[in-house]
Amino acid sequence: MPSPESTTRAFEERYGRRPDGVWSAPGRVNLIGEHTDYNDGLVFPFAIERRTWAAVGRRDDRMLTVHSGAMPEPAQASLDELGPERFEGWSAYVFGVVWAMEQRGVSLEGRTGFDIMLTSDVPLGAGLSSSAAIECAVALALNDEWDLGLTRRELIYICQLAENGAVGAPTGNMDQTASLMGEEGHGVLIDVRAETADPVALHFADEGLELLVIDTRVHHEHATGGYGARRRSCEDGAAAMGVPSLRDLTEDDLPRAQETLDDETFRRVKHVVTENARVARTAEVVAAEGPRAIGDLLVASHASMRDDFEISVAELDLAVETALANGAVGARMTGGGFGGAAIALIEATAVEAMTAAIEAAFAEAGLTAPIIFVVNPSAGARRDA
Ligand code: GLA
Repeated sequence: MPSPESTTRAFEERYGRRPDGVWSAPGRVNLIGEHTDYNDGLVFPFAIERRTWAAVGRRDDRMLTVHSGAMPEPAQASLDELGPERFEGWSAYVFGVVWAMEQRGVSLEGRTGFDIMLTSDVPLGAGLSSSAAIECAVALALNDEWDLGLTRRELIYICQLAENGAVGAPTGNMDQTASLMGEEGHGVLIDVRAETADPVALHFADEGLELLVIDTRVHHEHATGGYGARRRSCEDGAAAMGVPSLRDLTEDDLPRAQETLDDETFRRVKHVVTENARVARTAEVVAAEGPRAIGDLLVASHASMRDDFEISVAELDLAVETALANGAVGARMTGGGFGGAAIALIEATAVEAMTAAIEAAFAEAGLTAPIIFVVNPSAGARRDA
């Protein structure tokens, strides 16, 4: 497992000097609220203990160099020639943040570049926001190193712009908000339109529960394909209903939506509208009654994604069904869909038996073995050293 110390050592080996500091940002799991963020809606994720660390040291020229523990080759860019068309592969997450800072008004004039060493234990492609973890760690580091004084709210928008404009994935900002605003033991109740992100205690451990992640290893790709298509359906649905975004509709509007929209667009809209309601309800219920009472909401969310939004896959459905059949309090797919991970809220005493049951179900169905692990609501992005 990487750490601030091991990241510092890796920096020293690569660059032959000590870094100025080490910053880190977590991946996230979304408890509930899927595809609501880019509809100005409500989301309820939490930051997890798996993080990306960035050891950073100033240079005296205008170059940016990034080494990643996961990649054999370093990537380089100059502060004088930053543009999405110049970024290749994973380095877009890093250089894209600098580009996005400039787009949002940070002058790069007279600034010096950086050497960066990245390490991470956020699994790639599992839908746990490994990309947001990189963006947020780098953004926080540069905010300190360049003494920019940007708020975390502004860093959220910078990291989202890096993702949208430099990486090319048309996502909302749930991942970046969870990574920057997470708190240990808490979910982050996000209202995208109101620009708020409030901590809500989850009490999983107090109630003897664990949150299991089941990474199906079916890889998703949000820069292309289904994610963008879903986003367009939502925009089309809002336009046909005469509202700026689906946030402006409630369940009372659904009969009119059904009359107005074609069947597919209606089901996309229905998912988003009901999902916003489920997020609000989940936050209320967890505060009033505790996490054992949110199971039905998680299950309803999964059904809505499977049947109406149509972003689940057989592996995710199998993980959820198997978890529920083996006594989970609740379970659902999490993240953008088309692969990635499911979550199951289970008895802490059942982790081993549940893991074995899900592995057995996948083996029986002839599917690639999933990777299953426990996560805990954890602290957001911070300076570690
Ligand atoms: C991905 C995106 C998020 C969000 C989810 C779906 O994780 O990065 O912005 O839209 O999908 O809820």
